[in-house]
Parts: sequence; C-alpha cells; structure tokens
Amino acid sequence: MNPNKALWEKGDFTRIAATMRESGEALVDSFGITKGLKVLDLGCGDGTTALPAAALGADVLGVDIAKNLVEAGNRRAREHKLSNCTFQEGDASNLEQLQDKSFDLVVSIFGAMFAPKPFDVANEMVRVTRHGGRIIMGNWIPNDPTLVAQILKISAAYTPPPPEGFVSPMTWGVEDEVTLRFTAAGVPKHNISFARDTFNFNYPGPPSRFVGDFRSYYGPTMNAFAAAEGSGRADELQTALEALFDSQNTSPSQDVTRIPATFLRVTVVRE
Ligand SMILES: C[S@@+](CC[C@H](N)C(=O)[O-])C[C@H]1O[C@@H](n2cnc3c(N)ncnc32)[C@H](O)[C@@H]1O
Repeated sequence: MNPNKALWEKGDFTRIAATMRESGEALVDSFGITKGLKVLDLGCGDGTTALPAAALGADVLGVDIAKNLVEAGNRRAREHKLSNCTFQEGDASNLEQLQDKSFDLVVSIFGAMFAPKPFDVANEMVRVTRHGGRIIMGNWIPNDPTLVAQILKISAAYTPPPPEGFVSPMTWGVEDEVTLRFTAAGVPKHNISFARDTFNFNYPGPPSRFVGDFRSYYGPTMNAFAAAEGSGRADELQTALEALFDSQNTSPSQDVTRIPATFLRVTVVRE
C-alpha cells in the first residue's frame, strides 16, 4: 500500500475538515470564480474548497488520493445538489488521467503539499493548467508559531524518522523552494507570488476535545500517538498538544474553540 495514501485513509479527515468550512468558503470567495470556470481542486479532501467553488458556478473536479475522502466529497456534493462538482481518486504526483491545459484554475489548499515528489507535483499542476490560467496553493509554513505547523512539528518529534530521501511537506511553505519547483516546471519567476493568509478552525467544544479529534482522526497525529503509545509517551504528547491548543484558542467561551493558523498563499500564473 502507498504510505501516502494509507496516511490519509487512516482515521477520518472529514472530522477535522468540518472545522474548516468558514475559512474554506472565505478563501474561495477571493479566487474570482466565474460561472463555468473549470477548476481542479487537488488534494481536495471532502470538498472544503471544491463545494464553495461549485456553489459559485465553477465546474469543479476534486482529486484526492484517499478513497474515503473522495466518497465523502461526492456524498456532500449530492447533498448540496451540486451536479457541477465531482470527485475522483488520483495522485498529485502523477495526474495521468487529466489532459494537458484542461483547467482555468488549479487549487490546492493544504493538499498537494502532502504528496511525495514535489517537483513532479509542480510539473503536473502546470501541465493541466491552460495558458493564462492560475494555480493557487495554500501551504503550511515550517516553524510558524501557529496551530498546524506546531501540530506537525510536535507530532514529528514523537514519530519515527521518515525514510531516506523523504521531502518534508513543510518545504512547500518556503518561498525559495516553491519558486524552484515552479520555475523548473517552466513558469517564469515573475509569475509566482506569495502572501501570508489566515485560516480559522472552529470546533464546537473545548480545546482538549479538539485535540482528541486530532488524536482519533488526523493521520499524522494518529501516527504520532501510535508511536508515543509504544514508547510510553502518549500522555506527554497529549499534554503538549493540549497546551498548544489552549494557548492558541481565541474563543472567549470555554465551550468552543476558535484557532487561527497562518499559511503561505502561492499564486502562479501560467503564460
Ligand atoms: C490536510 S488535508 C486537506 C484537504 C482539503 N484540501 C481541505 O482543505 O480540507 C490533505 C489532503 O491531501 C490529500 N493528499 C495527500 N497526498 C495526496 C496526493 N499524493 N495526491 C492527492 N491528494 C493527496 C489527502 O488525502 C487529504 O485529503
């Protein structure tokens, strides 16, 4: 089994995605979607950005490596009566099922960053974008002090080291690395731009319960807990994550959690 696929089919990312809908919609509102725009959402999960894009009239294809998330996305599209939004399985490192220059906009919000072979990923995103089209990525930033970068950093400290040659997904949050990947795919440097943006997580319970959802449903944290349980350090990991979530919670109420997280927004224009 492909370990990248296994990681994301583990657990149930829809439980985390449910806390991301507000910012997903706000982000899509900033994409300038027009009716009939052909959009590819890569690493789409269960459609946090794909569904709002379709609701604005785009023709959306969501591609994700995880079968359970593709099924969840198609179910959500049906529930929202969005016949212009479909989901299928695929790997961002090799989109062989998609034709060259077939999309006006390729979006990947915290998605393609998790695929292996980043240069292949950049190449594939450029290949399927039409001339004059755009690519928009949202990527977590290494060592950023906000939520997701810190979850991944803390989790990595409890997880066995990755195999030789593994490229950290967080390198997609480094502007120079991103520039190298897209210029290698043929994009002139002046067509690549960067901005810092914020994504809010809204959870209908206290921070400690939100940590519990990451422990039970989010692949990278599940792996960290599995390893920490093996070495008798699971309580320590739980405490570290609860301290993080508590310190980042901006909700005035003890009963709900609202945590903003900073990400790197990458925009690429294909000439
Ligand atoms: C953190 S989730 C984000 C999902 C969604 N974009 C969102 O914002 O809710 C990462 C997603 O990337 C997908 N993914 C990971 N590796 C992938 C790959 N090689 N090709 C396609 N999707 C991948 C995972 O299955 C998962 O749905």
